[in-house]
Amino acid sequence: MTRRFPAGFRWGTATAAYQIEGSTTADGRGPSIWDTFTARPGVATGDPACDHYRRYREDIGLLNGLGVPYYRFSVAWSRIMPDGRTVEPRGLTFYDRLVDTVLEHGITPMVTLYHWDLPEALQAEGGWPDRDLASLFADYALTVHNVLGDRVRQWTTINEPFCAAFIGYGNGDHAPGIKDEGAALVAGHNLLLAHGKAAQALRSAGGEQEVSIVLNFAPVLTDVDDVAHREAARKFDFLHNRFFLDPLLGRGYPPELLADLAHLGTLEPAIADGDLEIIAQPLDVLGVNYYAPARAVPLEDPEADSNCPLPGLRGMDVQPPRGDLTSLGWEQRPSSFTDLLLWLHEHCPGLPLVIAENGAAFEDEVVDGRVHDEKRVRYFAEHLAAVHDAIERGADVRGYMAWSLLDNFEWAMGYTQRFGLVHVDFETQERVLKDSARFYADVVARNGL
Ligand code: FCB
Repeated sequence: MTRRFPAGFRWGTATAAYQIEGSTTADGRGPSIWDTFTARPGVATGDPACDHYRRYREDIGLLNGLGVPYYRFSVAWSRIMPDGRTVEPRGLTFYDRLVDTVLEHGITPMVTLYHWDLPEALQAEGGWPDRDLASLFADYALTVHNVLGDRVRQWTTINEPFCAAFIGYGNGDHAPGIKDEGAALVAGHNLLLAHGKAAQALRSAGGEQEVSIVLNFAPVLTDVDDVAHREAARKFDFLHNRFFLDPLLGRGYPPELLADLAHLGTLEPAIADGDLEIIAQPLDVLGVNYYAPARAVPLEDPEADSNCPLPGLRGMDVQPPRGDLTSLGWEQRPSSFTDLLLWLHEHCPGLPLVIAENGAAFEDEVVDGRVHDEKRVRYFAEHLAAVHDAIERGADVRGYMAWSLLDNFEWAMGYTQRFGLVHVDFETQERVLKDSARFYADVVARNGL
């Protein structure tokens, strides 16, 4: 039996600038925090990544061959404003041509303004813990909109502020590599503020456009249904799933979460009068990234740090994933995806959802010019079925972007994790369609599974 998706369902693939572009010093581009963070011996950098800056025509051609009608990509602030403020026209020209190329193939561009690559010059001034970045980000958003806004209708301000704030400034696993939980909370707030100001700026520019933010969610599981486990799950859920969502919905930060984080002493003082109103700009859609659930357990010592990106979230711990894992060690659990979408449907009434990322890394091998990536095919089939289940049960899901079009630079994991529908040989830059690309093209062509 075919599972059909609603008419007009938006099928796409997604990428991010730093993960694919390479050419990190071309045409006046300034360094971003990821260039600085990876400038250590033995660490993989974003050069050459997929050399997409020079091969973008070929890559968009591939997308066209697959018949996938939407393409979500990000623009690099440090190409457009190398010092975070001054415009470099050559950077804008690149995205201007990219958008034209995408449109020439009949593909709809979806632009993300910030996918983690802050200009280093702004980090030198303090980075996201500095609230002045929120206004600078809005200026940048408007600059990009002035050039692309006549052709781009779908705008995402920020991708995964959870990771940008808590992994970048909390546990330091991502750029800029800072371990300061108090600063991480302030960074989280300022990222939301930057979203709100950018949403206002984009709307003030007029035109018909859709404004969204992309959040990453991790539904929380526990083994035992008792008060202590429920409270451990609640803590992680509020930090991971509601720190960003609730203020966006106009509900402010959940009081229980403020209490969980009060001992860090930085979040409440960082919330200035009027901030929550700015953050709560109406959203046209919510971008949802889902990869895996999390498993929570209580810690007996209420003062003990947790094993989560913000260790100061006390009294809970994150357990190792179980069952079938991806090569990145992420648990495969499509039913959690359905649960998440149904929960969002209830928690955010009237807000349409678009899956902005979902996908999996596995060890792929090119054999006789083919990549038989059955595990990824199964992952996509099961997760698309999970989305379909949620739609059948009432969730308003309008689209699905597969992560990712190309194998790419997977942040702290360098080039060791392949998420692409298209295999990239990072020595020769040869592209080979994986079986999952053919599978996905077929789903898109049928609008069904
Ligand atoms: C998400 C990121 C994306 C990619 C996937 C695997 O958290 O948004 O850039 O790295 O994970």
